[in-house]
Amino acid sequence: MAAAEHPDMFIDRLRPLYADVPGLEARVGRHLPVLLPLLSQVYGQRADFAAQCALLAGRMAACLSARPAELRALDTAREANPDWFCDSRMLGYSTYVDRFAGDLLGLIGRVPYLQDLGITYLHLLPFWRVRPGDSDGGFAVSDYGSVDPRLGSIDDLDRLTARLRAAGISLCADLVLNHTADDHPWALAAKSGDPAARDFYHIFADRAEADAYEAHLLQVFPQTAPGNFTHVPEAGGWVWTTFYPFQWDLNYANPAVFVAMAGVMMDLANRGAEVFRLDSAAFLWKRLGTICRSEPETHLILRAYRAIMAIVAPALLLKSEVIAPVADAARYLGTEAAPECHLAYHAGLMTAGWAALAEQSAALPRAVLAAAPPPPHGACWITYVRCHDDIGWQPLAPQAGGDPQPRLKRIADFYTDGRSYARGEAFQAGGGDDAHGLNGTAASLVGLETALTPEEFDAALARLRLLYGLAFAAGGLPVINMGDEQVLLNDWSYAADPARAGEGRWLHRPVFAERPGANTGLGALAALRRSLPPAAPETAPCLFESGADPVLAFSRGASLFLFNFAGRSQHVTVPPDGWHDLLSDAAWAGVVAPYGMAWLVNALQDG
Ligand code: GLC
Repeated sequence: MAAAEHPDMFIDRLRPLYADVPGLEARVGRHLPVLLPLLSQVYGQRADFAAQCALLAGRMAACLSARPAELRALDTAREANPDWFCDSRMLGYSTYVDRFAGDLLGLIGRVPYLQDLGITYLHLLPFWRVRPGDSDGGFAVSDYGSVDPRLGSIDDLDRLTARLRAAGISLCADLVLNHTADDHPWALAAKSGDPAARDFYHIFADRAEADAYEAHLLQVFPQTAPGNFTHVPEAGGWVWTTFYPFQWDLNYANPAVFVAMAGVMMDLANRGAEVFRLDSAAFLWKRLGTICRSEPETHLILRAYRAIMAIVAPALLLKSEVIAPVADAARYLGTEAAPECHLAYHAGLMTAGWAALAEQSAALPRAVLAAAPPPPHGACWITYVRCHDDIGWQPLAPQAGGDPQPRLKRIADFYTDGRSYARGEAFQAGGGDDAHGLNGTAASLVGLETALTPEEFDAALARLRLLYGLAFAAGGLPVINMGDEQVLLNDWSYAADPARAGEGRWLHRPVFAERPGANTGLGALAALRRSLPPAAPETAPCLFESGADPVLAFSRGASLFLFNFAGRSQHVTVPPDGWHDLLSDAAWAGVVAPYGMAWLVNALQDG
């Protein structure tokens, strides 16, 4: 029995709520016909399909009944203004709870700081209870319903979401979708032999089966966690572990997994999260003979989650964490007819900015922007400079030439070989020509750690502002990585701490500190962004020829932007006179300073 043919299973559960929940009937009418065919396409062949649909319908009804009044009001407001998050007033901040503020209550104390910076969106890295010992920075979750006791309690989380909402800051919670910790109750039950729990994961008694997959897979952590399978004697076989051995990949071919994670999402939405960062979203579906990334079913599953959330918590946004070339990452935004996530990381543009500094050429950002499809209506990019992970160069592979690896390797080495201004460390180098990943804070990578003279200091600061300027100007929702606004340098102490020494990414996860005098002006830059002539959210940057290779030039709406990735001034032939530079508050004179930029508006329109 396919649910697509039996919408009544859902309608019967949801109809009794129509009177209570404003707009619900219309939502069901719109999104159920999307959801049901997706579910039957992915799971229709399973014997337990109807039973799982019934379970899902029940959970959706329970979520709707329990949704607090203020979140229902938010649903109504956001439905009336579905593009709200693409507005130029939006500015994000991303951080670990403990590194920024100690714990959740400490974070409440930092809300005024975020407000001063103009933040309206706060991405918190995972704050759930994790396994003892290494937890990959919180990405090995043992319980999606209880907070890591070191960070606080579930009540603290409720206090925080209420405080953030009152401050006009939307909480983006990390949702570790692809895997659980090896001590999650599902994993424990699987180890104890429970067949239903074993079907939550990919466990192969026979190594040959694992090998058949392994032959086509890539490796995420080739040095610290080689291979994609871990032998777990209690589980009686080889467990699929794409990341660390203690992170067990969930089996999304099992509808019970899909429904269980939908339940996690619904509970968290009712606690006031407004955005989910769908961690490792590309890895959900496994298919023999492929690299098991971005398989078609992964997209269908994400669309199904979107349809569910559109019914039960329409204020909620989905963000895909897919670090891939721009054309692949864009697919996670879906299309107007088949929307998927609301937000996706513009990893290509982020990486291209760093590459451009190394190459003193704007060729790669130009190529990435040229290859970036405009987001469909109601979706936008996350633009950023750094995050808690390493910078991987593979998102640039399609734009970096016929054999991209030597070029990417040169770029990667620029930041790690100690011969430039940058102080970064290689991450998970695979050897050969493969470009290694890069660790380091933005401040250390732009040269603030090595700057000795005021000129070197100014040049480093200019590079940091340049990269953030690009993230702010490219459209989308820009996110500041915690500490970049204070130009926090690398935390080299990680190497002496046994708990962190094995994981190089701790280099760029310093403890927050205010550094008086370290004025990056990111808050002021964000304020300037808000004053730009409004452009429709889906307006993509439109490249134009600047006449100088190091200068990236594009228009967006009625504004023109120029970014000079070279350490020498550049004369630019276009645009001619008649423009006003908002950054220098002076008439445009045709020259972009070393590592400088110009944000131009038509002088006649500028008051
Ligand atoms: C994502 C996270 C990263 C983590 C990995 C496994 O890529 O950003 O920090 O190691 O997923 O959960």
